[in-house]
Amino acid sequence: MEIFKTIAEIREFVTSKRQSGSEIGFVPTMGYLHEGHLSLMSTAREENDVVVASIFVNPTQFGPGEDYDEYPRDLARDADYAATVGVDAIFAPDVNEMYNPDHATKVELAGITEKLCGASRPDHFSGVCTIVTKLFNIINPDRAYFGQKDAQQVLVIKKLVAELNFNLEIRTVSIVREEDGLAVSSRNKNLQKEERKAATVLYESLQLAQSEIEAGVRDTTVIKEKMTNLIEQEPLAEIDYIELVDQSSLEELARVKGKILIAIAVYIGEIRLIDNLMMEV
Ligand code: PAJ
Repeated sequence: MEIFKTIAEIREFVTSKRQSGSEIGFVPTMGYLHEGHLSLMSTAREENDVVVASIFVNPTQFGPGEDYDEYPRDLARDADYAATVGVDAIFAPDVNEMYNPDHATKVELAGITEKLCGASRPDHFSGVCTIVTKLFNIINPDRAYFGQKDAQQVLVIKKLVAELNFNLEIRTVSIVREEDGLAVSSRNKNLQKEERKAATVLYESLQLAQSEIEAGVRDTTVIKEKMTNLIEQEPLAEIDYIELVDQSSLEELARVKGKILIAIAVYIGEIRLIDNLMMEV
């Protein structure tokens, strides 16, 4: 496995692979790799001749006061993990390689980026769209892999690809969870022991919603109230949002119907965690 720090080097690598007829799968990440990332990489490994992963903590998708500085970073550890699932190349640029000091271009996608996480993190998806556009232009992959853990991100990226005519396919991979249900996340590393225990309340609340819906409850206010009550029993948890929305428009639903997404963001101490569950009724 090779590690490239510059755009010129990774370009040369992918160009030569492409010239010899290889199909390229690409997994963008912010590093501190875990089972969720590895699942994307393994899927990419199965579906492509060459797998490239990027590791870049993208400053433009973090808001002021968010955890950009605290975000865990360990390239040596990440390289070992990525090698175990057969990644061929890692692109791990420095901030200056991706953003000149006078970098002024932003990729803005309206509408769905203003809902859910976009409501509490106003510039987040502009940062994601900007960096993903740059990475797609650098790597020029045949397929790119995204986790359902960030359900809104998947929708945003699919729309970006369709509207900016990127010639690639977006593949999604289901959420990888710890044994107790907590969705695996790089941010889990920053949870203290008690917080780690408390964090299970996210998935518990999603399961509660699921069982209510399976029992026939359709009023989303009732479901949200039950989820809120459960989460509020956990003193370390503070709700950012709980929403039941249409899976493709992300419009809030008054009643559960069709393909729905139950999406939540909850602070556990200082750490903001997200999780979601899809259902079809
Ligand atoms: P990051 O949070 O590192 O996640 C990289 C990819 O791993 C994303 O597609 C995310 O959905 C997926 N992922 C994370 N946890 C997962 C889990 N438990 N199960 C399955 N997939 C999981 O998402 C980003 O980075 C950034 O926004 C990025 C797209 C790299 C742009 O900077």
